[in-house]
Amino acid sequence: MHSLEQLRNDALREIESARDEKSLEAVRVKYLGKNGSISAWGERMKTLAKDERPVVGKLLSDARNTVTAAIEQRGAKIRAEEEFDALAKIDISLPGTPHEIGSLHPLHQMHDRAIQIFRRMGFALAEGPDIETEWYCFDALNTPADHPARNEQDTFYLPDGRLLRTHTSTVQIRTMESAPPPIRVIASGAAYRRDELDATHSPQFHQIEGLYVDKNVSVADLKGELEFFMRELFGAETEVQFRPHYFPFTEPSLEIHVRSKALKSGEQWIEVAGCGIVHPAVFEAVNQARGDDAYDPEKWSGYAFGLGMDRLAMILFEIPDIRLFSQNDLRFLRQFA
Ligand code: PHE
Repeated sequence: MHSLEQLRNDALREIESARDEKSLEAVRVKYLGKNGSISAWGERMKTLAKDERPVVGKLLSDARNTVTAAIEQRGAKIRAEEEFDALAKIDISLPGTPHEIGSLHPLHQMHDRAIQIFRRMGFALAEGPDIETEWYCFDALNTPADHPARNEQDTFYLPDGRLLRTHTSTVQIRTMESAPPPIRVIASGAAYRRDELDATHSPQFHQIEGLYVDKNVSVADLKGELEFFMRELFGAETEVQFRPHYFPFTEPSLEIHVRSKALKSGEQWIEVAGCGIVHPAVFEAVNQARGDDAYDPEKWSGYAFGLGMDRLAMILFEIPDIRLFSQNDLRFLRQFA
């Protein structure tokens, strides 16, 4: 019994002098582990006389509880000290690492503004891939085999005959193939042509395509809605002109030019889009692919447009050179943060 008390005192002393968790654990094993010297008393109990057992039992559980509590306390203290030491090594007077906060690319900002306006006009978003088949890019869009856009000199073809889409009008066909009329969508994305890179031309540029198919859609709808869009974007005093043009997939076809004194381009008319009334041959191609008569050109009509996003952004943000969009020069990009 004496030695049980002795053991307890020895344990408490060793616990107090343990400097880290490892040596503390060694003390725990030594006294309370399966073969620990306090634990051994549990075995010895069996050999004691019956009347001695409750007395020794009480001493034993006291010793166990005291030592266990002391180990817990000492452990908490050791961990707190370690944490304190670690923190003491940090110089909190040093300035922090500054985080550079990014911002949206000007083309992205342009894209968001345009989409916001079209959303208010009830257009839903549609999409299609950048790598296309000739069907979506040309054939279904009434673009004959001898059209210059199909020339290898003008277009990026892949070895398997597919190509980088030369315009986003591909999404018109994809949308109509997958859903019957009425349709009211816009699709935004990149388009590719073998243009020489200069201040106003880039082999990769960006468009927003629009398509509206319903009963009795006319040039009046097209004109009203795109004029509204241009004025929302460039300001109420913006003038909008529709000039006759030619596209194989629209008839009549028009080009949209804008002019606004509020802009740096001032007196100058600038071409920003192509548009027109969807050609019946486009509807027939879609019907052929769908295998039905959903787009009966006698019943349905529509308008389509393709806006040059880079051009719009250049006017809106007064950017003099299209190459700036892709050069990734932070001095340029930071101006739009
Ligand atoms: N796809 C034409 C272009 O890239 C623009 C356009 C779209 C014209 C829709 C008419 C209708 O030049």
